[in-house]
Amino acid sequence: MFQAVRSNAKLDIRACDNTFACEVMGVDVKTLNDDQFGALENAFDEYGVLYIRGQEFEPRDLVDFSKRFGDLETHVRQEYSLPEFPEIHVLSNIKDGERTIGSAYAGDSWHLDLSFLKVPARMAVLYAIEVPYDDCGNALGDTLFASGFDAYDTLDPKLRNELEGKHCFMQYNRRQEAKRLERIHDHPRPPMTEEQKAKTPDIWQPIFRTHPNSGRKAIYANPANTFCVEGKSEEESAPVLQSLYDHLYRPENLYRHKWQPGDLLMWDNVGAHHMAITDYKLPQRRYLIRTSVSGTPVF
Ligand code: SIN
Repeated sequence: MFQAVRSNAKLDIRACDNTFACEVMGVDVKTLNDDQFGALENAFDEYGVLYIRGQEFEPRDLVDFSKRFGDLETHVRQEYSLPEFPEIHVLSNIKDGERTIGSAYAGDSWHLDLSFLKVPARMAVLYAIEVPYDDCGNALGDTLFASGFDAYDTLDPKLRNELEGKHCFMQYNRRQEAKRLERIHDHPRPPMTEEQKAKTPDIWQPIFRTHPNSGRKAIYANPANTFCVEGKSEEESAPVLQSLYDHLYRPENLYRHKWQPGDLLMWDNVGAHHMAITDYKLPQRRYLIRTSVSGTPVF
């Protein structure tokens, strides 16, 4: 699984086979000094997906650790935040009466978080409290990641030239509402309020986004939120977007994270596309908590 060991005096960082994910070994992140945190942040910027296993976190620890990267955001669907920590968004299928305690089966199609906002999050930090298992003890509910940066770099030049500098149309409400209706029987979730809709207006975003620090470009269009390409109808856009996605989500461009309780995983939200696999259902319980660190306007 590991391609190389890049230990240094500060941290033991191991790159996974596919180059854009890495594991930091043998640390309790609550005790990282500034030098070690700097090394961790550099590794995060370099790879885009970074995880550390075996962390013992209370919600407060997740907030404190995430804040070292920048200001935290509150999710538009506040009904799935922890009451004591509005910055923590809960992802869970566990039920409390009729409702789930978190957003159930969220992120089950390829996306970047909040890619439909003018200023989306820089990164997300996800911590696993409970992980579902099958009868043989295999973990379920993996998360897949794809590098939008590597996919941009290796994209067919003809397609890249055709789309360079163009925008795509993104909507949140439409897919959210479709999803809500699909799930209304097994996992009822409330419709979005008028206030929530007002915070997530439709938007044109660049098809290729530039990373504000590294200057690298990434494919930013994603199936969860993108409906058409500038200058084309939805129907005309579909095959063009599909060609992008076929390249972006091809198996050799993926990292698959098998969760263990105590995993802390973070991803760069400019280019680390991700999708949660929903191959479990109650009584198999999944309970993860997430923070989002503020980002910068898209260009
Ligand atoms: C997300 O898209 O933030 C959720 C990922 C997951 O639940 O694995």
